[in-house]
Amino acid sequence: MEDIKKGLESVIALETSISYIDGINGILEYRGYNINDLSEMPYDAVSYLLIHGELPDEDELEAFSGQLRAEREIDEDTIEFMRMCPYGVEAMDALRTAVSYLSHHDPDMSDCSLDANLRKGIRLIAKFPTIVAAYYRITNGQEPIAPHPSLPHGANFLYMLRGEEPSELEARLMELDFILSAEHELNASTFSVRVAVSTLSDIHSAVIAGLSTLKGPLHGGARLAVMRMLEEVGSPERAEEYVLSLIAEGQRVMGFGHRVYKTYDPRARIYKRLAREIADERGDTRWFRIAESIEEAVQRELVEKQGKPLCPNVDFYSAVVYKYLHIPPEFATSLFAIGRISGWVAHCIEQYADNRVIRPRAKYVGKHHPSR
Ligand code: CMC
Repeated sequence: MEDIKKGLESVIALETSISYIDGINGILEYRGYNINDLSEMPYDAVSYLLIHGELPDEDELEAFSGQLRAEREIDEDTIEFMRMCPYGVEAMDALRTAVSYLSHHDPDMSDCSLDANLRKGIRLIAKFPTIVAAYYRITNGQEPIAPHPSLPHGANFLYMLRGEEPSELEARLMELDFILSAEHELNASTFSVRVAVSTLSDIHSAVIAGLSTLKGPLHGGARLAVMRMLEEVGSPERAEEYVLSLIAEGQRVMGFGHRVYKTYDPRARIYKRLAREIADERGDTRWFRIAESIEEAVQRELVEKQGKPLCPNVDFYSAVVYKYLHIPPEFATSLFAIGRISGWVAHCIEQYADNRVIRPRAKYVGKHHPSR
């Protein structure tokens, strides 16, 4: 048996035409379009691009957005189920259970044809923000707010969260956050999604596998951890001491490092610019300055002194943006999922289209007992 690549590092497991990463030069493309160019577009257009492979023209975008808006609502049963969640259930766990619950009511549940998968995918993309916003309000003792019929994806989410329309800048940041989170090749959660689909299981089950994998702190859960770290550090002056104490304890600095990028993650660059923009607009640069001081300390202590190629990843400055958008840390990973669902749906469709069950081997290192 060949050598084992622990964590499947550098293993090419399949072909995809959904996204491309150049980890040396820090390039990310969705369907061949550079992430910097896509960041000017509406989330709906990027979602369409990921699922259908081409950017929509005006009519296609209008029709796709119309389908998404028509599917934004969740029924009273799903809301009631969220009200019944025990105190302290995390947003990602509530979202995961809600997806499972929704699957029981989906009219296409037993149909895995392409058309049915597209319909189910659109329902999931449309309903994710509504579920997360409703759960946020329920956990705050407030009534959920019905989706807005015409606001864009990001603005509608903030509207459902707060009960009032966000500012232009906030709406743009939310839209962009969902775009930047939408897709990233064969990351751990997308791999889980594709493994589930490869057994010819259904999209809802695959998405539940994706959510369960995204949640972990080495993946999407890092965003939550970075928000907590910013709060714990508290002021830019404490950043160095904090990073040194993590190193002394052999712990990781959350929001740094990447399996593929050995340079600055291109999404982190965009988030950093956005974080600075909203900090300036708010006239409160504290969170941004704390983050920058942590980045400087990591550069000095881990990159320059220890030679580790650690740059901020997507979860670092996105956490700063969330601080300024007043997103509670416990909800950070579920926002990541709201963006990522489009990528998962695209990968489900790609996997179904040319499927072979994903079933690698393991090298057995246990004992062999002689047969009796
Ligand atoms: N802080 C300190 N040291 C680190 C970090 C970090 N954040 N990340 C990696 N290292 C060190 C690690 O200790 C190891 O050192 P050594 O060779 O001396 O043992 C070396 O760098 C290589 O690390 P690795 O664990 O082999 O790298 P990996 O490719 O298996 O893991 C990673 C990638 C992202 C899980 C890891 O960098 C990490 O744990 N980062 C912190 C968590 C994080 O921010 N996760 C978000 C990932 S990106 C977006 C997403 O997927 O959601």
